[in-house]
Amino acid sequence: MTEAVAVVDDAWTVGRVLLWTAERFGRAGVDAPRLTAELLLARALGCERIALYTGFDRVPTGDERATMRGFVDRRLAHEPTAYILGEREFWSRPFEVTRDTLIPRPETETLVEAVLARLGNERARVIDVGTGSGAIAVTLAAERRAWRVVASDIERGALRVAMRNAARHGVGERVMFIESDLLTAFRHDALFDAVVSNAPYVIDVETAGLAPEVRDFEPRRALVGGGPDGLDVIRGLIAEVWRVLRPGGVLALEVGAGQAVGVSGILSRSGGFCDVEAVGDFAGIERVVIARACATPLRQQ
Ligand SMILES: C[S@@+](CC[C@H](N)C(=O)[O-])C[C@H]1O[C@@H](n2cnc3c(N)ncnc32)[C@H](O)[C@@H]1O
Repeated sequence: MTEAVAVVDDAWTVGRVLLWTAERFGRAGVDAPRLTAELLLARALGCERIALYTGFDRVPTGDERATMRGFVDRRLAHEPTAYILGEREFWSRPFEVTRDTLIPRPETETLVEAVLARLGNERARVIDVGTGSGAIAVTLAAERRAWRVVASDIERGALRVAMRNAARHGVGERVMFIESDLLTAFRHDALFDAVVSNAPYVIDVETAGLAPEVRDFEPRRALVGGGPDGLDVIRGLIAEVWRVLRPGGVLALEVGAGQAVGVSGILSRSGGFCDVEAVGDFAGIERVVIARACATPLRQQ
């Protein structure tokens, strides 16, 4: 009898698995150890996070425990939680992510917010260059029913994920997907009201002090911008964008910490943009540079 009670006391209940995992993650320096443990265990058990609390004494099955062990090992090997779960929330919507896509970041919501505010509720045609998981394109289309959005990326694998996210959020009909190196696949006479991009802008993955979660797991092409300042991709986009942006149209670019001044300078010197402005994110970092295409761009004179 006593033995039976001892077995039950030692059982790997939901509560005990959570405690053990959070403690193990904490010691390993995993971000938000308790939350991560809860997200992974909920997925292993196929339930909502809240159900963990109502089922604290439940003993997971052998299969469920094996699944959880696999998740814990992957997280301890620095694989991001979003890749293990296969999704990440952006603008309060879940987005599928895979190793082909960057994991959408909260600071990118600053870019979405800036574009929604600049364009208002009018009908608009918008391009999202380097769409990745489609977080920006799908969010813009979902927030503005009158907008038509084109999402482009150089990576076919990313575009497939973005298409699934558009369908998942009911905007598949209003988002078009184009495989393109920057704007090369776009017709010269296609005039858009806005071009939006969170293009890669990291200078050097090895020296940028990135966490192993980013450095070893996220696609290099989604991170590295090229050139000594990491701005080569953005520079290329600015050089081409006037072909597709109508006079008065909006260009909105996400930039890394400390890059807003450089990007504003490139825009101003190009002679094709006015009203160049930097927008800060929730951490006070200048995260977005936004500008208007001049009515008569110098390049076209
Ligand atoms: C920083 S990620 C942004 C992904 C997504 N827009 C987001 O904010 O989560 C940059 C994206 O640009 C794409 N990319 C890189 N170089 C590109 C190029 N020359 N033309 C088009 N897309 C490119 C990458 O494949 C990647 O999906």
